[in-house]
Amino acid sequence: MPKEKLIALLNKGLELEHAARAQYLSHAKVVSGANAEGIIARLVEIAGDEQKHEGMFRDCIEILGGVPSIKMAVGHPATGTEQILQVNLKDEHDATDFYRNILKELDAIKAELKYEYEYVEHKLRHVIIDEQEHASELKTLLGQ
Ligand SMILES: [Fe+2]
Ligand SMILES: [Fe+2]
Repeated sequence: MPKEKLIALLNKGLELEHAARAQYLSHAKVVSGANAEGIIARLVEIAGDEQKHEGMFRDCIEILGGVPSIKMAVGHPATGTEQILQVNLKDEHDATDFYRNILKELDAIKAELKYEYEYVEHKLRHVIIDEQEHASELKTLLGQ
């Protein structure tokens, strides 16, 4: 059963990534104002990273024998550039926290995942590092 729990958590992560990509692409269409062009370009670029994360979660779910989710987590609407950046910054932090919890669950069943552990661990860490980079970039755009 613990492996099923891990697959369920990875699917929650995949659903977060589906929502994150859609949210960034939607927000990129809403941003306006003086520095809009640079911000739009960055949001679209981050959406591309979220799409790569979807693939990584699907790969992890596949190697564990699960079926990747086709659902999407609830998105967070925002208006105005500052609110958009703030909302996504919070989502990046929440994603980092959630993925760290998955890492803990993964470690707890390491012995059971003799030939999958490093693969899943590496992909998860890669995703977490990207989310931290996204958060740092959003902070810079916010002037923090
Ligand atoms: Fe992501
Ligand atoms: Fe992200």
